[in-house]
Amino acid sequence: MNIVILAAGKGVRMRSALPKVLHPVAGQPMIAHVVSTARQFSPAVLAVVHGHGGDLVIRHFSADSDIQWVQQAEQLGTGHAVKQALPVLDPNHPVLVLYGDVPGISVETLSRLLSSVSSDKIALLTANLSNPTGYGRIVRNEAGKVIAIVEEKDAAPEQKAITETNTGILVVPYEKLARWLAQLNNENAQGEYYLTDIIAMAANEGVEIVTAQPDDVSEIQGANNFVQLAELERQHQRRVAEKLMASGVRIVDPARIDVRGTLVCGKDVSIDVGCIFEGNVTLDDNVSVGAYCVLRNVHVGAGTKMEPFCHLDDASMGQNVKIGPYSRLRPGAELADEVHVGNFVEIKKAQVGDGSKVNHLTYIGDATIGKRVNIGAGTITCNYDGVNKHRTIIGDDVFIGSDTQLVAPVTVGNGATIGAGTTLTKDAPENALTLSRSPQKSVQKWQRPVKKV
Ligand code: UD1
Ligand code: MG
Repeated sequence: MNIVILAAGKGVRMRSALPKVLHPVAGQPMIAHVVSTARQFSPAVLAVVHGHGGDLVIRHFSADSDIQWVQQAEQLGTGHAVKQALPVLDPNHPVLVLYGDVPGISVETLSRLLSSVSSDKIALLTANLSNPTGYGRIVRNEAGKVIAIVEEKDAAPEQKAITETNTGILVVPYEKLARWLAQLNNENAQGEYYLTDIIAMAANEGVEIVTAQPDDVSEIQGANNFVQLAELERQHQRRVAEKLMASGVRIVDPARIDVRGTLVCGKDVSIDVGCIFEGNVTLDDNVSVGAYCVLRNVHVGAGTKMEPFCHLDDASMGQNVKIGPYSRLRPGAELADEVHVGNFVEIKKAQVGDGSKVNHLTYIGDATIGKRVNIGAGTITCNYDGVNKHRTIIGDDVFIGSDTQLVAPVTVGNGATIGAGTTLTKDAPENALTLSRSPQKSVQKWQRPVKKV
């Protein structure tokens, strides 16, 4: 089939410089959701009609070659928009029309709509809404056959009472569509070329119009402003949370989770409130994520427990790790099994070996840390000399005293102990105590200053 995605609308009510269809739901522009749903049907042609801010929309997809971009310079209506796409479509296939600002439409619903289509029928997705205001209404005759769609602004009072609405999504045989679009006029309340007018033309010719309904009415909602965009976001997140819960994940409050990418969970995973998952996140069996954690492209090994307020980005953790509260893992942080990372610890481009502990107020960057190492509070790897980054290597069973600075490049041998307060500028040998410390002195009879009057 051909798929045409309409995305030329200005989105005036967003009051934003960004084209409407680029506003995100679940971290992805609305139109990206529609395009990825469309691709699941392997269409012969996938066309996107763009207008306002089109270059930005095209740039978002620059790597993709399968989209036929069609410009609609002036937004003269949905019928006019589809007409612009006709030249790039394959006349041998029917045409499915989708909206770039209706991101929730599901593959399941579209499959059902498509299953009822044939070369001599139109398939129309309609929805019964308790409040149909703003939508086109589906007009049926006494026999229950669809005979027209009237827009809200053109509807007579008795038509406004109809609750079956037009979702805008429909499938039409190509030849008929081309013929009907050529006959459209704009003599209506909005002075637009309405795609919906082809329904009355079809009915007049005796072409059957079959209808299907979405699984969930939230699927067919668009976003004209930020209030509606936020509603779409919550609906999307609700569906994601329900799928996760159905697969056995304990989500403390499905209204307070945001998955902006792919979240894969093992068995008996539990997620507290306010967490955000971005990119590809995998939580293995028995992982528990505390409140208000942000995880982007992270793999978390089985049994790992995350306390609240952790920020983890491009990092990985082994099994039975304890992390947080208030820990930050930056790109390239790799924690092995049974590692403990505590509050106000930042780790970047570093491997921390099995059973090692970095519990308080520490920066570890560009480092390799062995097994069973204890890093004392306030330890800093001085990895940057202002120009280049250098590595710190720490062996197994090392004890680093509190408030140590490791001036890289530097190596600490296995079993070494570094005294508290050391500024380590040379390698520390294995199994020895190394410390740098100025001698302590006490001044007798010293007087504290007194405040001058
Ligand atoms: C349209 C339908 C209405 C339906 C509603 C569902 C028509 C005439 N009306 O109304 O029956 O209930 O959608 O949401 O079709 N667009 C273009 N070019 C244009 C005009 C619109 O690309 O010249 C795109 C918009 O970007 C949007 C879609 O088409 O993605 C719908 O346009 P919109 O203006 O929102 O149509 P509605 O008046 O809401
Ligand atoms: Mg609309």
